[in-house]
Amino acid sequence: MTEPLIAPVGTRRVFSGVQPSGALHLGNYLGALVKFVALQHEMECLYCVVDLHAITAWQDPKTLASQTREIAAAYFAAGVDPAKAIVFAQSAVPEHAELAWIFNCVARLGWLDRMTQFKEKSGKHKERASVGLYTYPVLQAADILLYKATHVPVGEDQKQHLELTRDIAAKFNHDFDAPGFFPLTEALIEGPGARIMSLRDGTAKMSKSDPSDQSRINLTDDADTIAGKVKRAKTDPLPLPETVEGLKDRPEADNLVGVYAALSGQTKAQVLAQYAGQGFGQSFKPALADILVERLSPVSAEMRRLMADPAEIDRTLAAGAARARALAAPILAQTKRIVGFTAGQ
Ligand code: AMP
Ligand code: TRP
Repeated sequence: MTEPLIAPVGTRRVFSGVQPSGALHLGNYLGALVKFVALQHEMECLYCVVDLHAITAWQDPKTLASQTREIAAAYFAAGVDPAKAIVFAQSAVPEHAELAWIFNCVARLGWLDRMTQFKEKSGKHKERASVGLYTYPVLQAADILLYKATHVPVGEDQKQHLELTRDIAAKFNHDFDAPGFFPLTEALIEGPGARIMSLRDGTAKMSKSDPSDQSRINLTDDADTIAGKVKRAKTDPLPLPETVEGLKDRPEADNLVGVYAALSGQTKAQVLAQYAGQGFGQSFKPALADILVERLSPVSAEMRRLMADPAEIDRTLAAGAARARALAAPILAQTKRIVGFTAGQ
């Protein structure tokens, strides 16, 4: 499946999404939100709150709407401008589910059987997972291709889903003899925040679903909580090394230096030049806590301000959904024509 990326410069479009399935953390911020903000100045961007994805695992109907608003508030608080980027809830654009059905008939069972995220999330009892969780990456492909998006900013954990998206696009284009109809979308993963690890275990990624709250910095944590979590963050007994090579086989040290570098806009080497030879507790951890508070507290204060007016968030999301539908409708109509549905003729 090797087609060239067909989108010429000028028709480049960005799509990404975050699930409203719990509080956002530093990994989401650095792996996704910071990139969302930077890209809105370069290309047309759509940022979705993927509530259809969220319900692949049980979500309490009493809290789903407020979780959806909270993700939208986090986008805006991080700097996404709804006048520029299109921000909306996935369930408000029914075309996502419609295209996902067509793609369910394009994707092969064998492809989904290889998805590591399904294996992780379904755990030991895969027969008890929802069918939606299994076909989740197909819906993700529909999200992206419904807008013929060419670029998708995500953390490293989404790499396999983006490869599947390309496979679905290529197979659709091939099977329906529609060369180049869907683009072969590129993941934008590179960057210092692509894979932020747990504060308790440098080999596990920072995650919403980790039972220990000490493992992550939440966007809504206050300054004292952040300082406490950094202080207790696992490290090894050695001092900070002189060089980046010295971080090899020291996953906790590597992660903390990486977070500091990402937040301060420096390289790891520059960070080490400042702290090499010192113990973690001496001045590195206090400085890391300071920079975390400096970067995250304005975001969480703005989130709180926005969350105080849920009706305004709903209006902004509704306006975004109308813009998204205007882009999606003609692409879905053309897709239906290609498939041969009478409704598309
Ligand atoms: P999720 O919370 O799973 O919906 O993820 C939302 C976005 O955050 C996706 O682009 C993920 O790849 C990204 N992300 C989640 N966890 C991390 C992490 N530990 N490090 C970097 N990016 C992450
Ligand atoms: N699967 C993504 C995650 O868990 C969320 C997502 C759904 C997404 N649809 C998407 C990300 C489309 C990028 C593009 O993080």
